[in-house]
Amino acid sequence: MDLAAVGTDVEKVIATEEQLAAKIAELAARVDADYKDKNVLLVGVLKGAIMAMADLTRAMQTHIEMDWMAVSSYGSGTKSSGVVRILKDLDRDITGRHVLIVEDIVDTGLTLSWLKSNLFSRGAASVEILAILRKPEAAKVEVDVKYVGFDIPKEFVVGYGLDFDEKYRNLSFIGVLAKHMYS
Ligand code: PRP
Repeated sequence: MDLAAVGTDVEKVIATEEQLAAKIAELAARVDADYKDKNVLLVGVLKGAIMAMADLTRAMQTHIEMDWMAVSSYGSGTKSSGVVRILKDLDRDITGRHVLIVEDIVDTGLTLSWLKSNLFSRGAASVEILAILRKPEAAKVEVDVKYVGFDIPKEFVVGYGLDFDEKYRNLSFIGVLAKHMYS
């Protein structure tokens, strides 16, 4: 979906489809260089990471493996609870593997901080994080995100995998949800 199709639901565009494609190409080149000959395992965190994973991996020129986890840290509202539950675990053992977690957004950092140490505790050789968006002002815990697409203000963003109540994930861009949609 493009901007015209969502009308006044979105009040501001944060990253256009073109800006996202350029950023993904830049991140893919960095990941390619860093993981050359390392057989990197990309772990996508459902559901928000689907677009980032699909575009990043196709822009890469290195063989990769892909796995998925689903964790829950939010309800249908806009606030982080800090509670992380595994809804779907990895399919394979990651002992000795170089793992790159792929995420749509780091907000409070609670999910990624928990996930990173969880994957380390399984014996991964390395665990790094790639996130399309990061909200530095929302951070509640320090989490080292090696690959960041865009640092953004503390606003409610949707699109390119990010939802509000399961809607807007299929926007081709990322935008700020208009306040009248949730207040
Ligand atoms: C989002 C996002 C991260 C998490 C980040 O997922 O994909 O997993 O929240 O928030 P935090 O930094 O405050 O912990 P969400 O729980 O909304 O699920 P979804 O990916 O299925 O939309």
